[in-house]
Amino acid sequence: MSDEPKRRRSLSHVGGHTDTAGPRAEAEKLAHALDVAPATDADDDPARSHVHGFHTYPARMHPTTAARLVRAFSPPGGKVFDPFCGSGTVLVEALLAGRAALGSDLNPLAVRLARCKTRPRTEPEVEYLVARAAEVVQHAEDRRRARAGATRRYPPEDVDLFDPHVLLELDSLRSKIESLPDEPTTLDLALVLSAILMKVSRRPGDTSGAVVMRKIRAGFASKLFMQKAEDWATRLGAFSRALPSPPPPRGDVSLDDATVLKAPRDEVADAVITSPPYAATYDYLYHHELRLRWLNLDAGMLARGEIGGRAAYRRMNEDDGPAAWAWELSRFLKAVRRVLKPGAPLVLVAADSAVRNVAIRADEIAADVAPGCGFNPVARASQSRPHFHEPSAAAFRTRPRFEHALLLRRSSPS
Ligand SMILES: C[S@@+](CC[C@H](N)C(=O)[O-])C[C@H]1O[C@@H](n2cnc3c(N)ncnc32)[C@H](O)[C@@H]1O
Repeated sequence: MSDEPKRRRSLSHVGGHTDTAGPRAEAEKLAHALDVAPATDADDDPARSHVHGFHTYPARMHPTTAARLVRAFSPPGGKVFDPFCGSGTVLVEALLAGRAALGSDLNPLAVRLARCKTRPRTEPEVEYLVARAAEVVQHAEDRRRARAGATRRYPPEDVDLFDPHVLLELDSLRSKIESLPDEPTTLDLALVLSAILMKVSRRPGDTSGAVVMRKIRAGFASKLFMQKAEDWATRLGAFSRALPSPPPPRGDVSLDDATVLKAPRDEVADAVITSPPYAATYDYLYHHELRLRWLNLDAGMLARGEIGGRAAYRRMNEDDGPAAWAWELSRFLKAVRRVLKPGAPLVLVAADSAVRNVAIRADEIAADVAPGCGFNPVARASQSRPHFHEPSAAAFRTRPRFEHALLLRRSSPS
């Protein structure tokens, strides 16, 4: 932590016990960002407001956390960079707060989502999107009535995952979307298709391998597609109207490896606010395999460069987990240092995880590796979170599992 004497305080909140360290003003801003009360009413839930509620994404940041961090750690009009932008939560909140938003991710589905979510739309654009969706649905309905066959051969994974009539309907929706001219609306409609895929499948969600048998009527997939397209249009309209005036420059989102960062210019960012993968917890490549394939997105870079992947950590000796994460995090910190202005803040939202009985403490590892990568650890807030994974319960017996907001600052050039 910084030269200031270390203070430790404890706050108790709905989300669990919060422990802080570092200078009081900064630690309290971090604690406030984590302290998000669960919504009592689905209609009033910030996690589902406007574009945030459109498409699922594993380990999304809570929009209230993102909004508070953006306002606390970046200057008005400044540039916020999220190099693990996922579905774009930080970028959306940065734009709403009048900041310029720069983002990247190695998952092409994330890049597609973040780009579409951060692009403001005019009323005519929103109406055009709904009209195009209606054309797609009409095409699928015509093919269904004509009992037309599939336009391509589907692999066994798809045959196992969907009822035959659902697969045929999805095929018609997809082939019509692919035939549309290459324009932003086509990208939106492909995301609408992605948003309904799981709901008409035999899988409960991206991160579950379970099987559910749903009874899906003929025509339901098309109906759901239309409802989702209308919902997306409404959400895009609401987001666009909520932007400040004059609106900040458009979000700029690219496919980039956060441990390399080819895209951004040197010292372009006033703040980095991001949430790296939670080590050993998710496999984005595997979770999104279906969506990536249905959207014809090339996942080659993700396959080669995803960090923190659960399967890779599961194959390790459990004692090697913390060192592996220290190495992956260091590669990211060294890459991102170049993009930040000297002295500028880097806020990491990260949770503890485990490989079998050995905990990977996100806060301790970040504090250990940061100085060697050109960052000074400044403050942190850590809120306890339940741990549901029974096989690694022993890892959190002595200290609970925490979600952390960690503030580092880029050291000045030496
Ligand atoms: C915790 S999620 C970020 C979620 C995001 N904050 C949101 O609200 O949707 C971590 C992200 O890291 C990405 N990722 C994994 N390895 C990466 C790498 N080497 N470079 C860039 N992104 C990577 C994953 O694709 C995933 O989107």
